[in-house]
Amino acid sequence: MSIFQDDRIIIKTLSGLEEALGEELKQIGATQVEILRRAVACNGNQELLYNINYKSRLSLIVIRPLKSFYAETPEQLYDGVRSIEWMKILDVGKTISVKASTYKSALDHTQYISQKTKDAIVDYFRDKFGHRPSVDTFDADIQINVHLNENQCEIGLNSSGNPLFKRGYRQATGLAPINEVLAAGLIALSGWDKKSNFIDPMCGSGTLAIEAAMLAQNIPAGYYRNNYSFMHWSDYDRTLWKKVKDAADNEMTDFEGLILATDISPKSIEIAGKNIHFAKLHKDIELKQIDIRNLNYPEGNGVIIINPPYGERIKTKDISDLYQAIGDSLKLKATGYDAWVISSDLEAIRLIGLRPHKRHVVFNGSLECRFNGFKVFKGSKKDQYQQNYTTEDE
Ligand SMILES: C[S@@+](CC[C@H](N)C(=O)[O-])C[C@H]1O[C@@H](n2cnc3c(N)ncnc32)[C@H](O)[C@@H]1O
Repeated sequence: MSIFQDDRIIIKTLSGLEEALGEELKQIGATQVEILRRAVACNGNQELLYNINYKSRLSLIVIRPLKSFYAETPEQLYDGVRSIEWMKILDVGKTISVKASTYKSALDHTQYISQKTKDAIVDYFRDKFGHRPSVDTFDADIQINVHLNENQCEIGLNSSGNPLFKRGYRQATGLAPINEVLAAGLIALSGWDKKSNFIDPMCGSGTLAIEAAMLAQNIPAGYYRNNYSFMHWSDYDRTLWKKVKDAADNEMTDFEGLILATDISPKSIEIAGKNIHFAKLHKDIELKQIDIRNLNYPEGNGVIIINPPYGERIKTKDISDLYQAIGDSLKLKATGYDAWVISSDLEAIRLIGLRPHKRHVVFNGSLECRFNGFKVFKGSKKDQYQQNYTTEDE
């Protein structure tokens, strides 16, 4: 008998990526996919759970619900947690941590909720075996999630452990690196066909280019990572995990197109180079130090994604000049490309001076951003002017 209440799996993601994650999960084999706020739920077995952890580019953590009960008082919370058969889930030598969240509930202190939950688990083991698992708030083997929503308590196990954006390839970072899940999400939202060119003219630590190269070659998102929390669960099936991994690794393919990552800063190029080499993608990604003002986009077509400084975390001398330069670069040299810009700076985005054909709202950390797509049309100078240029944006 499974230790879990049903076959439900909850997958957390970043705001704005829910629909794209739903599609990705269907491709991985999930059924009964339901879009939630910053999460997607689906049905699946242990094999799917391993597959999502290994293959999904848009998932932050994958949770397996354990038990749901009503808890308005500390005693109800304690009793509910203690009634779970923890010995079927972990052995006493493992370390544990508890992460709590609460919404419109009588128990409204996350620290208290997490302490009470830990007490119940520890007492369960002490009473049964005379020993207790240790708590490790930093990197525990078993990570327990407690969520209270209008006094309904959901206890779940985080099967991923460290969030899945920690892919394992990032050896160094620049000043404002983009989260790997967000980078993969932007590529998904751009609709890049994985065949044409992919250009990141402000590459920083190289995240977008690396994610594009992984996607194009079907390199599993977890290829460079070797630890997941489910490996510490009592039901861990090593043979099944190897089967899942081998099957995914066998699906890797070649990519014939061009991935180009450029940046004005020598330091960024050095950092991106380290990450790209670590990921063994140096033959797949061309890296070049150049100001976007002097960049000539390669012949052909494809997608350009630009993650410029927003003027919030990085100070450049003149953000307005920079966004105007981005606009000029696209209008004059990127004909035929589908160009995308992510920025929290709405005023600056307007200065690009192109009319977006698509707009998405995403969050880069706590910053609400626009991710706007601009098509740069071919044609006479007059045609281009009419199709591309605008004075309005939002
Ligand atoms: C927000 S960071 C990009 C972060 C990147 N996506 C990552 O994951 O690390 C913006 C980058 O734009 C670069 N940049 C600023 N002005 C530039 C210019 N004129 N031409 C090219 N790159 C520029 C900066 O050096 C910086 O690395």
